[in-house]
Amino acid sequence: MNFLDKLKQFRDYEGQLKWEGTFADYLELVKKNPIIAQSAHSRVYQMIISAGVSEKDGHKHYHFFDGQIYGLDEAIERLVEEYFHPAARRLDVKKRILLLMGPVSGGKSTIVTMLKRGLEKYSWTDEGALYAIKDCPMHEDPLHLIPPHLREDFFEETGIRVEGNLSPLNAMRLEKEYGGQIEDVPIERIFLSEDKRVGIGTFSPSDPKSQDIADLTGSIDFSTIAEYGSESDPRAYRFDGELNKANRGIMEFQEMLKCDEKFLWHLLSLTQEGNFKAGRFALISADELIIAHTNETEYRTFISNKKNEALHSRMIVMPVPYNLKVSDEEKIYEKLISESDVANVHIAPHALRTAATFSILTRLKESKSRGIDLIKKMRLYDGEIVEGYNAADIKELQHEFPDEGMSGIDPRYVINRISSAIIKKGVPSINALDILRSIKEGLDQHPSITEEDRTHYTEYIALARREYDELAKSEVQKAFVYSFEESAKTLMDNYLDNVEAYCNSNKIFDPITGDEVDPDEKLMRSIEEQIGISENAKKSFREEILIRISAYARKGKRFNYKSHERLKEAIQKKLFADLKDVVKITTSSKTPDETQLKRVNEVIARLVDEYGYNSTSANELLRYVGSLLNR
Ligand SMILES: Nc1ncnc2c1ncn2[C@@H]1O[C@H](COP(=O)(O)OP(=O)(O)O)[C@@H](O)[C@H]1O
Ligand SMILES: [Mg+2]
Repeated sequence: MNFLDKLKQFRDYEGQLKWEGTFADYLELVKKNPIIAQSAHSRVYQMIISAGVSEKDGHKHYHFFDGQIYGLDEAIERLVEEYFHPAARRLDVKKRILLLMGPVSGGKSTIVTMLKRGLEKYSWTDEGALYAIKDCPMHEDPLHLIPPHLREDFFEETGIRVEGNLSPLNAMRLEKEYGGQIEDVPIERIFLSEDKRVGIGTFSPSDPKSQDIADLTGSIDFSTIAEYGSESDPRAYRFDGELNKANRGIMEFQEMLKCDEKFLWHLLSLTQEGNFKAGRFALISADELIIAHTNETEYRTFISNKKNEALHSRMIVMPVPYNLKVSDEEKIYEKLISESDVANVHIAPHALRTAATFSILTRLKESKSRGIDLIKKMRLYDGEIVEGYNAADIKELQHEFPDEGMSGIDPRYVINRISSAIIKKGVPSINALDILRSIKEGLDQHPSITEEDRTHYTEYIALARREYDELAKSEVQKAFVYSFEESAKTLMDNYLDNVEAYCNSNKIFDPITGDEVDPDEKLMRSIEEQIGISENAKKSFREEILIRISAYARKGKRFNYKSHERLKEAIQKKLFADLKDVVKITTSSKTPDETQLKRVNEVIARLVDEYGYNSTSANELLRYVGSLLNR
C-alpha cells in the first residue's frame, strides 16, 4: 500500500471513531460501557496495565516502558504500586502531586513523555476512549452536568461516582443556550493531543519575573469584555492555561522546584481540592494527573525551607535513580546511539559494555558490611552468578545504601564522549579503548566533578579497562579455536568421566584400546591447577562438582561447562594455556611467516563473521591482545 492510501485509510479510521450526540445519548453509552467515564488517573493506570505486566522473582515488570526505559524496574514498580494504582482507585494519593526526584539525565523526562504520548494513543482505543462537553475549552467531563443532589441516585444506578462541579462557563451555557435542559447539551468524543492542546499540558519554568500565572490558569480576554459587559462573565475569560488544557489527562511540570512560589501555591489548591482558582470565578474542578520532576539538590533545598511544608505534604516523592545494571546501561547507549547522527558508525563488540562498566562503577557504593569488591557487586546487581553470594546477599547489599544510584556519571555524558571520540578518530569504527580514553579526557573538562570524584573515576576507568582486557583476551583465544564451545565441551566431558571414576573408585574405559584403565590424574590436575586447586583440595573439589551435577539432574536441568563458575574458569584457562603460545607468537610477530599470516587471516575472518567485528576493529583487537600477552 502506498503512502497516500495509508493517509486516506487513517482519515477514514479517524472518521469512524468520531462521535457526537446529546447528553442523553452519552448516558446510554456510559451505561453500556462505564469505563469511558473513568478518571484521568484511572485511565493512565489502565493504559500502563493494558501493555502487559509480567512477574519475576516477586517483582513486577511493566511492559509499557519497554524499549525506552531500562534498568528501572524497581522504581517503576514503586511508581505504579504506590501512586498510579491507588490514585486510579480514587484514594487520597490522587490529590497529591507526583514528584519524580532523581539525578540529571536519569530518565525522568523520558518516563513522563512516554506517559503523555501513551495517553494520546490510548485515547484512540476503545478502552481508552473519553468524551467531553462539546466545544468546551477545558473538555469538561459531561457527567459534571449532573446536579449534585442527583449524583447519589446516579451512583446507585450506574456505580459511577461523579466528582467535581460544573465549570462557570458550562454552567452559564447550560442556562443560556439550553434553558437548563441537561439532556440536550451536546457531547463529543475527544482525542488527547499535546499539539492540539487537548488533555496534555506542559509547563516549564522560565524567568520568574516575566512568567505569568495566566500561563497556568488562563486569563481575561479584554477584547470581549465590552461584548459581555463584565469581567466576571465566564465568556470573557480564556480558559487556555496549561492547567485548563490538561484537564482529563496529564499535566507535566518540568523542573518544578525551579518555579516561582506563587505557581506552586496554585498547584497546592489544585491537588488538595481537585480544583483551582481562575480569574474571578468559583473554583474550577480539574481531573488531571500532575506529574512533576526535579533533581535531588533542588529537592533538598526545597524541603529544608519551613515555608514549603504545606506544599511538601501535598506531594508524593518518587525516587528515579540511575540504572545500576551493566547490561541495561549498554541498552541505554544502544538506544541513544541509534537515535543519534553517529548511528551508522561501527562500534566494536564490548566497547559499550566497557563504557557501561565504568558508568555503573561510578554509581555504586563500596559495601562496608560484606567485604565484597565493587566489580563483584556490579556483577551481582547485573544478575550474574558470583560464587559465594546468593539472592539474600543482593537484597542486603541493595538495602545498605538507600541513595545508591542518586549520583555518578550520567548516560548522556558517556554518549557525548563516544560522539566526540568518533569525530576525533575520524574513522567509521570505534573500540572500547577509544571510548575509555575519551571519557578520561572529558573528566578534566567536566564542570561538576570534585577532585575526589576525579580520583575515583580514574580508578574506575582502570578497572573497566582491566575487565575489557580479560574479555579481549578470551575473545581472541576463542577465535583461534575452530569451534571453542565444542572444544570446551569435549574437554569437560573428558574431565567429568575421570572425576566420576575417581570419586567412585572405578576404572575408566579407554575408548581407543577398549581397556579398563585408572582415571587420568595428569589430565584432571592440569585443569584443576589452572584455578589453583591444591593436591589436598582436589578431592573435595571433585566431589563438589559431582554434587552440583546431581543437583542439576534432580531439577531436570542440563549441566554444561558454564554451570559451575570455577569449573568454567578452569576449562577456559586450560584451553587458553594450550593456545597461549600460538596466539602470542601469531599476534605479535612483526614479520609473520606464511602459516602465521594464514592463521591471522582466518582468525580475523572468524572475528568478523561470528563475533561482530569489522576488519578494522578485528585488526585493532588482535594487535592489542598481542601486546597484552607479551607484557
Ligand atoms: N534508565 C534509562 N533507560 C533508558 N534511557 C535512559 C535511562 N536513563 C536515562 N536515559 C536516557 O538518557 C537521556 C536523558 O534522560 P532524561 O529522561 O532526559 O533524564 P532527566 O529528565 O532525568 O534529566 C534520555 O535520552 C533517556 O532516554
Ligand atoms: Mg529532564
